[in-house]
Amino acid sequence: MVDSLGVAVVGFGWMGRVHTQAYARVLHHYPRLPLRPELVTVAEEVPGRAEEAAAQFGFASTARDWREVARDPRVQAVSITAPNFLHREIGVAMAEAGKHIWIEKPVGLTPADAGAVADAVAKAGVQGAVGFNYRNAPAVEAARELISSGAIGTVTHVRIRLFSDYAAHPDGALTWRYERERGGSGVLGDLASHGADLARYLLGDIASLIADTAVFIPERARPTGATAGHTRATGGELGPVENEDYVSCLLRFASGARGVLEACRVSVGEQNNYGFEVHGTEGAVSWDFRRMNELGVSRGTDYQDQPVSTVYVGPGDGEFAAFQPGAANAMGYDDLKVIEAHRFLRSIAEGGAYGATLPDAVHSAAVVDAMVRSAESGSWVNVQA
Ligand SMILES: NC(=O)c1ccc[n+]([C@@H]2O[C@H](COP(=O)([O-])OP(=O)(O)OC[C@H]3O[C@@H](n4cnc5c(N)ncnc54)[C@H](O)[C@@H]3O)[C@@H](O)[C@H]2O)c1
Repeated sequence: MVDSLGVAVVGFGWMGRVHTQAYARVLHHYPRLPLRPELVTVAEEVPGRAEEAAAQFGFASTARDWREVARDPRVQAVSITAPNFLHREIGVAMAEAGKHIWIEKPVGLTPADAGAVADAVAKAGVQGAVGFNYRNAPAVEAARELISSGAIGTVTHVRIRLFSDYAAHPDGALTWRYERERGGSGVLGDLASHGADLARYLLGDIASLIADTAVFIPERARPTGATAGHTRATGGELGPVENEDYVSCLLRFASGARGVLEACRVSVGEQNNYGFEVHGTEGAVSWDFRRMNELGVSRGTDYQDQPVSTVYVGPGDGEFAAFQPGAANAMGYDDLKVIEAHRFLRSIAEGGAYGATLPDAVHSAAVVDAMVRSAESGSWVNVQA
């Protein structure tokens, strides 16, 4: 017996589209899921965008104001895919209205924002999933298992990188992402938040860190119309970039392991170069998002000159079997969101948490906040999770 679950999407830019596609596909990959998401409504402030989404994906209705979604009794679960500065207000309001929420990272601008949404979700007794999609990759799950099983010995150090060129073009429009009030701490909330979650997912809590930040493109042209994703704007009036293009930091984990985390949104020549290399006393494991279904693995007892193998993940790893029948049939980015949708809906069906939740967002926000404090003070700071 499959019950239907009324879902809504608030903010129909890139992530709104990806969440919607995930709802549409989730039962194709998880036929035993006892809930069928029904696309009830989509809220968008840009005129016409919600109507286009409804025509393309079959939402039964549209709204200009997300508050209509909070009041809509047909809606039981809401994807919050609006810009960062709206996460707190919308997240708290939806939870208080009794809606389960699937909210995008970084969940607001500060740890206090993420904490407010986490508290509202806990108080309302609803489920809260967060868009830390990289941890859903079967290869990341396999790496986590390798590490926790001791297959690479005791972890000594890790390098985590998130390099992108999405803001590298000097004509990239001055959207909400570059404003402190609406976008928060720039690449810290945007990419380093993913890195912080991956680091903790693989290796446990980060205890302290020291960070350095920079803005490399200090001015951008204001957009002349509605924007989505990474719009260009040429010839417009210039305005200041208020938040960080770059962050690097040294990490000390509670386990004693050391790490380096670096994130940049203006890296010319780097497209989604996200990944990690984890080193242990007996081996190493590495992952590159651009080759999402592969792991580099070195294990054994040679220590020196120990070979590294490329391992293709397969049906035994993570959620791979829900997508492909055998190793080296590639999965893609959108599949990670289908996994996330499944975990969210399974949480609703079963009443327990699966996948990244709001406490994970609070932890990630605490690491980002430590980066901000350290960059200001120029010294090591403790992560206050
Ligand atoms: N998990 C990931 O890998 C990932 C990737 C990209 C973005 N994100 C996150 O997703 C969120 C959205 O990012 P995006 O890239 O989709 O941005 P986007 O700019 O493409 O889309 C945001 C949409 O929200 C709409 N919007 C703005 N104010 C609104 C309001 N008051 N009511 C309704 N709609 C409103 C905008 O018009 C736009 O269509 C951000 O928090 C971002 O950090 C996550």
